[in-house]
Amino acid sequence: MATDPTVKGTMTSPLLSRRNILLGGFGIAATATVAACTTSVPGKAGMPSRTFGAPAPLSPSPGQRLVEKTLVAKPVSLDLGGRTVSTWAYDGKLPGPLVRASSGDFLRVSLDNQLPADTTIHWHGIRLRNAADGVPGLTQDPISSGTKYVYEFTAPDPGTYFFHPHVGVQLDRGLYAPMIIDDPNEAGDYDAEWIVVLDDWIDGTGTTPDDVLKKLIADGGPASGGGMGGMDHGSMGGMDHGSMGGMSMGTPPWVDAGDVTYPFFLINGKPPTDPDVLTAKPGQRVRLRVINAASDTIFTVALGGHRLTITDSDGHAVEPTEAGAFYIGMGERYDAIVTLGDGVFPLVARPFGKTSGGQAIAVVRTGSGSAPGVDAAPADLSGQVLIGSQLRPAESAKLPDRAPDATVDLALQGSMKPYQWGMNGAKFGENEPLTVKAGQRLRINATNQTMMTHPLHLHGHTFALPSGLRKDTVLMAPMQSFAIDLDADNAGDWMIHCHNIYHAEAGMMIALEYAT
Ligand code: C2O
Ligand code: CU
Repeated sequence: MATDPTVKGTMTSPLLSRRNILLGGFGIAATATVAACTTSVPGKAGMPSRTFGAPAPLSPSPGQRLVEKTLVAKPVSLDLGGRTVSTWAYDGKLPGPLVRASSGDFLRVSLDNQLPADTTIHWHGIRLRNAADGVPGLTQDPISSGTKYVYEFTAPDPGTYFFHPHVGVQLDRGLYAPMIIDDPNEAGDYDAEWIVVLDDWIDGTGTTPDDVLKKLIADGGPASGGGMGGMDHGSMGGMDHGSMGGMSMGTPPWVDAGDVTYPFFLINGKPPTDPDVLTAKPGQRVRLRVINAASDTIFTVALGGHRLTITDSDGHAVEPTEAGAFYIGMGERYDAIVTLGDGVFPLVARPFGKTSGGQAIAVVRTGSGSAPGVDAAPADLSGQVLIGSQLRPAESAKLPDRAPDATVDLALQGSMKPYQWGMNGAKFGENEPLTVKAGQRLRINATNQTMMTHPLHLHGHTFALPSGLRKDTVLMAPMQSFAIDLDADNAGDWMIHCHNIYHAEAGMMIALEYAT
């Protein structure tokens, strides 16, 4: 875990910038809550003090297909468009190898940890059994350097997912890979499929993610102009906090979206100077499976000269919705269908609110023509950009109508100066787990009490937004609230956290426990 930043209850600066606490600040609340919860059981909230031992081996049930895979996590040197970086990756590849199965299959994935550190794998978005969820101290022991661990689980729901460690800020190294669960009953009305993995890259460029986190804590956030993108401090003034959903288009919704200044942004492990080239024939229908594996970057995605039809969000079907561009937060996935024109087109993922490091780009080629430049700027990037949480659910993806049996509050809190982030009054390990009883419909009233945007992620379940839209990761703009409903149908101890990995590691996590 991160070094404990001292909890301070007062703000010293009279200047209330976006970087400071605005309302319900974590510092102030933390003092009271920490004092009030000295009776909480140490380790209960997930500090690695519980031990689990080796997982009990499982077998597929009769008739269940077995999908086996071995992954090696190890240090590697990678060439990023002529620049060599040393990093950690699965099988030495960026992104790591695809894990693919059909819904209902039994997955057995062995991880060989050849890293000089403990690690785990979390199967992001998969509604799997708790013991395979990959959270050290909560669902398993950390996998120590030089040892192996076998993950066995059934993946029940088709969709686009990914996997990554749940240790420290390892996600911001090269340790991530796509995971696709196919629907054996889906016709698949498209000619080709492209997996598009987005990332922000800093590892091995003279620093590491661990050093980045240390510096954020030591400096109390980025140097001015860093991840802030030079946005105007007064920009909150005109915002209607109660109805972000109805905000006028053209207003950047996320205000302040990241803390880290990255030198590169990647699509499928490649920088714009050596882009991935995706080829097909003119007129073909392609399914894009876009995954944001970045640690600190929200992207705006557009394919030059094309409209996209968004079909799925976080693995769940939506009412097909046409867009020229869409936002994707860290940990989110969107599937889209596009009918390709004839020629060469830039697929661009532009980092929201970041002014250095350029953008991520891949080349879509169906005909002749020269490749787009690294600064290619599809017009749709500056048009109306779709906000994923405003999508409507497909009928098939809706939870059955039901009133909540229980309601809990979840406050996202924190500040850049000092760099401390938490939930419900304290950082993870000091906050009280949320609880639910098996079988309940739980409503979580989530409120972002900070001046940054956070992608809120839930393990082991998906939740429904008030519209019925099903997701496991949702972007929450500054001061935005969502009532999110989940069915407690997967017993165990689960995490809820911000998917900005630096925020999560600084403490912006909480456990969700099933009460017995
Ligand atoms: Cu991808 Cu706990 O997260
Ligand atoms: Cu966050």
